[in-house]
Amino acid sequence: MMKIAIVGAAGRMGKKLIELAKEADLEVAYKVDVAEGYEKTWGADCEGVIDFSYHVGVPASVTKAAEQGIPYVIGTTGITAEEQVAVDAAATKIPVLQSGNYSLGVNLLLELVKKAATILGPQYDVEVVEMHHKHKKDAPSGTALMLAKSAAEGRGVTLDDKAVYGRHGDLGERPAGEIAIHALRGGSVVGDHTVMFAGDLERVEITHKAQDRAAFAAGALQALKWAKGKPAGIYTMRHVLGFD
Ligand SMILES: NC(=O)c1ccc[n+]([C@@H]2O[C@H](COP(=O)([O-])OP(=O)(O)OC[C@H]3O[C@@H](n4cnc5c(N)ncnc54)[C@H](O)[C@@H]3O)[C@@H](O)[C@H]2O)c1
Repeated sequence: MMKIAIVGAAGRMGKKLIELAKEADLEVAYKVDVAEGYEKTWGADCEGVIDFSYHVGVPASVTKAAEQGIPYVIGTTGITAEEQVAVDAAATKIPVLQSGNYSLGVNLLLELVKKAATILGPQYDVEVVEMHHKHKKDAPSGTALMLAKSAAEGRGVTLDDKAVYGRHGDLGERPAGEIAIHALRGGSVVGDHTVMFAGDLERVEITHKAQDRAAFAAGALQALKWAKGKPAGIYTMRHVLGFD
């Protein structure tokens, strides 16, 4: 059985990953977390790492995995551009899986949104709305950003040029082509995402609702097994699922 480390082991996702690892034929040899009672890092016999923690710790962790030559799965979201440099550097030495969402359903949604954006065109205004539990720290969610990027790709534009994050004040009319992203927080919501295409005569809404964190955990465990033995590089869940 492949010996693995879970980084963020004390967290909501960490616990779910530990619960499901055995039936995925993986042995959680190291439960790593900054919380008391957990290991501070993993040992030399570790064969792969899954990280669902907090973005500030990712650069040091992924760099260590690169030095050891073991695959690294990043579920942690909110990684800054500066932190991403370390992730990209590690990916020149090891396979790094990085996705804002490891569920099958959301990865299907990415395809559907891209297609809808291509077919409907800029006459349909795109609004992405996400809702998560009140403990989530980063906003908008990594998944909302991925969905907005898919809509931009479908339209043949760059998200950075078109993105609007929330609205407030006397902004005037909505400019055509905008891709707006809104984050709601509250209660225990595991993760809801809707991409809205609002036309003058009709509205199309594509929605995903995660009911259990197992949907993400199972995908991340599958991703680590897939990554074993792959050449160095950055991969997404699309590669694991065979979309690319
Ligand atoms: N990609 C996906 O499919 C997906 C799905 C759900 C959540 N997430 C992301 O995963 C991350 C964790 O989510 P969560 O709901 O489990 O959060 P959480 O707050 O419940 O757990 C995070 C854990 O990480 C630990 N931690 C913080 N800094 C650390 C460090 N430097 N080293 C080791 N451990 C550290 C914390 O002590 C905590 O136990 C978030 O970024 C969230 O957005 C991604």
